[in-house]
Amino acid sequence: MGWNIVRYSAKNYDVCFTYYKQPFLIKGCQDSYHLDLQNIEEIEEVVEVVQPGIIIHTAALANADVCEQRRSIAHAINVEGTRCLAECAEKIGARFVYISTDMVFDGNKGNYTEKDRATLVNYYGETKLLGEKVVREVSTDYLIFRMAVMYGHGNEKNGCFTDWIRRGLQRRSPISLFTDQYRTPLFAWEGGQAILEVLQHPVRNEIFHLAGSERITRYDFGQTSADFLGTRKKISILSKCAKLQLSRNAAMIAHWIPQKSPPSWVLSFPMLKPA
Ligand SMILES: NC(=O)c1ccc[n+]([C@@H]2O[C@H](COP(=O)([O-])OP(=O)(O)OC[C@H]3O[C@@H](n4cnc5c(N)ncnc54)[C@H](OP(=O)(O)O)[C@@H]3O)[C@@H](O)[C@H]2O)c1
Repeated sequence: MGWNIVRYSAKNYDVCFTYYKQPFLIKGCQDSYHLDLQNIEEIEEVVEVVQPGIIIHTAALANADVCEQRRSIAHAINVEGTRCLAECAEKIGARFVYISTDMVFDGNKGNYTEKDRATLVNYYGETKLLGEKVVREVSTDYLIFRMAVMYGHGNEKNGCFTDWIRRGLQRRSPISLFTDQYRTPLFAWEGGQAILEVLQHPVRNEIFHLAGSERITRYDFGQTSADFLGTRKKISILSKCAKLQLSRNAAMIAHWIPQKSPPSWVLSFPMLKPA
């Protein structure tokens, strides 16, 4: 996500980005800084040196299984790291954009709007919701974007759902996907575009849901990706998870159509009907 936002925003903004494990290059963007969200001094130092007008906070421990297994690290990165970054932004008067997730909902209801109460299903969602809370407490100029599951191009290191499918198909390993989990996949590039577009409007201290226009099961999404990648004929295709203990009709939220529009459009799109 961060990689997409940097590439998109470098066209019109003076952008620098941070990396955690390894440095890497992004075309059109000269400046990058190491930053560990568990290191408060480093966060303060980077913000002090860069003096940004806007901070878009995409970094997170975003793997739900790892968050479950390593709760204290997930909390340190997703909650305390977010708090420190938001406090630093506030100190220098920077706008703060926090990237959250549709996983703040358990999915039982579906068709969630920004007015719905969060209903958690895992620790990852819990830390992201706590991240939202600290942003609202600390920042006087924030935007929170809850993204649906994303697909598209990532950098070589960090992949998304479609990269995971591609790697599985290349390795010819079986892939199992939920047939009863509905998502509204969002093209990561358009997600970045939408965020940058909202930033051009005089709107602050709001939560936006950003998602694709199509409601689709994980299984169908995987099949479509495999078709797109052209590997369907070579590989025996994805197996259905017939009897699932965990049934999650995951978040189906307001959809975004990329075009020039005021942010109120984002909020007022009609909801798709649940299946
Ligand atoms: N992907 C989705 O479908 C999806 C859906 C909804 C919301 N989101 C949210 O969107 C944001 C971006 O997600 P993503 O899919 O792009 O995740 P990702 O590919 O896992 O990227 C997360 C980034 O955070 C960095 N990071 C991890 N631990 C860090 C630490 N201690 N200090 C500083 N940076 C650290 C990682 O750096 P390294 O690469 O060096 O480890 C990586 O660059 C997250 O906030 C996530 O919660 C994602």
